[in-house]
Amino acid sequence: MSKRWYNEHRRDPWRKKAKSSGYRARSAYKLLQCQEKFQLIRKGDTILDVGCHPGGWSQVALELTGDSGRVLGIDLKPCEPIPGVELIVGDITDKKTQEKLLEMLDGQPINSIVSDISPGLTGQYEMDQAISLDLVCLLMDFAFPILNKGGSFVTKIFQGRGIEAAVEVAKQNFSKVQRFSPVASRNSSSETYLVCKNKLPRARGQEVDITVRDFVESSLAKEGFITGVEEESEPKESGKIGFTLHRARDD
Ligand SMILES: C[S@@+](CC[C@H](N)C(=O)[O-])C[C@H]1O[C@@H](n2cnc3c(N)ncnc32)[C@H](O)[C@@H]1O
Repeated sequence: MSKRWYNEHRRDPWRKKAKSSGYRARSAYKLLQCQEKFQLIRKGDTILDVGCHPGGWSQVALELTGDSGRVLGIDLKPCEPIPGVELIVGDITDKKTQEKLLEMLDGQPINSIVSDISPGLTGQYEMDQAISLDLVCLLMDFAFPILNKGGSFVTKIFQGRGIEAAVEVAKQNFSKVQRFSPVASRNSSSETYLVCKNKLPRARGQEVDITVRDFVESSLAKEGFITGVEEESEPKESGKIGFTLHRARDD
């Protein structure tokens, strides 16, 4: 932990605010700021919070949806219980975890999927961005079909290659798509949030049977940032994801 990080962390107003308001993480303000701008969550909504540990976003989601709503939170790491939130430990890209979630929902429509998901960072930006993008694509592939018509989706995404393709797919599925950087995101941060509102009943102009992940991967391949997209003989092991980007060419 560097001295600079420690000093910034100590002075961070959002951290102090979160502590005094009883939020478990400063990131709670990022969701509050998304909500203030886009009104994503309404009273009575059913919400899925992806990458919920330690629970700041779930706390906010619960406040917004109220007693008549329902909040499910999922993370690789177990959270301390949050009264009123149904917590699941698991990998959102894992089929078994996805099935468990659907079982818990038992056909109940989801109004909003909020995701602050972030992979363990290596510190090498290009690699971290590629892993995060892959994670987001897999999340979109799971989330879009289970989200109710008119529903909203928000996810953290790191700026970089492949983002435009992910935004393009989002635009095929929602009537309003925007990138938004809440003020609670640190100034130095390259994270942004992809905010999608009003899920369309059917995707427009999308190639039949192509997943978000395949679409983004082929767009990266076309631009020459990854090697030819090969058929995978076996499904990827849970937790082992990430587009393998080439280093930037001449630019
Ligand atoms: C920035 S933290 C979330 C903070 C949270 N929004 C809050 O307010 O307390 C990102 C989380 O994403 C989780 N995560 C990363 N990959 C995941 C995956 N494949 N499935 C589920 N959670 C994942 C991490 O374990 C981490 O806890």
